[in-house]
Amino acid sequence: MAKIGIFVGTVYGNALLVAEEAEPILQQQGHSVTLFEDPTLADWQAYANDVALIITSTTGQGDFPDTISGLYHAIKDQLGYQPTLRYGVIALGDSSYDHFCGAGKTFDALLQEQGAQRAGGLLLVDASENPEPEVVTSPWVEAWGALL
Ligand SMILES: Cc1cc2nc3c(=O)[nH]c(=O)nc-3n(C[C@H](O)[C@H](O)[C@H](O)COP(=O)(O)O)c2cc1C
Repeated sequence: MAKIGIFVGTVYGNALLVAEEAEPILQQQGHSVTLFEDPTLADWQAYANDVALIITSTTGQGDFPDTISGLYHAIKDQLGYQPTLRYGVIALGDSSYDHFCGAGKTFDALLQEQGAQRAGGLLLVDASENPEPEVVTSPWVEAWGALL
């Protein structure tokens, strides 16, 4: 079973709600799970040989919410190669905006660039189609947890 850190980026709380639904699903599968609402680089580095689940919305014009922006930039500026990290990304957005799910896509691209291993596909959740994101995310989390 895996040690999983959930790293949340949210403005209005949707991504946090998704994370709070994901936590017990993963725990029931036997994983050890910790949720970080204001994640730091030190939090992230504690999972270097384990698993990170990034759950972030997009704000502005394809930008990161403040809760996760610092973490993204710290990883980009201070870390390099992360080959022993496995990860997943749930990106919340709205297709009526130009940069659909931009923050989640950008985080995924950075981790790919740094050699981390993604488990499963990138999940993009469109708020204009899914007013209750957990309806889409919880089944995905269950399948993702089974891959670990
Ligand atoms: C001011 C504002 C800007 C947004 N910008 C984007 C965007 O650039 N791309 C996108 O896909 N969604 C965008 N969204 C949609 C949010 O990402 C979406 O509503 C999401 O579910 C919010 O989740 P949160 O409550 O965790 O922040 C924006 C929403 C607001 C209110």
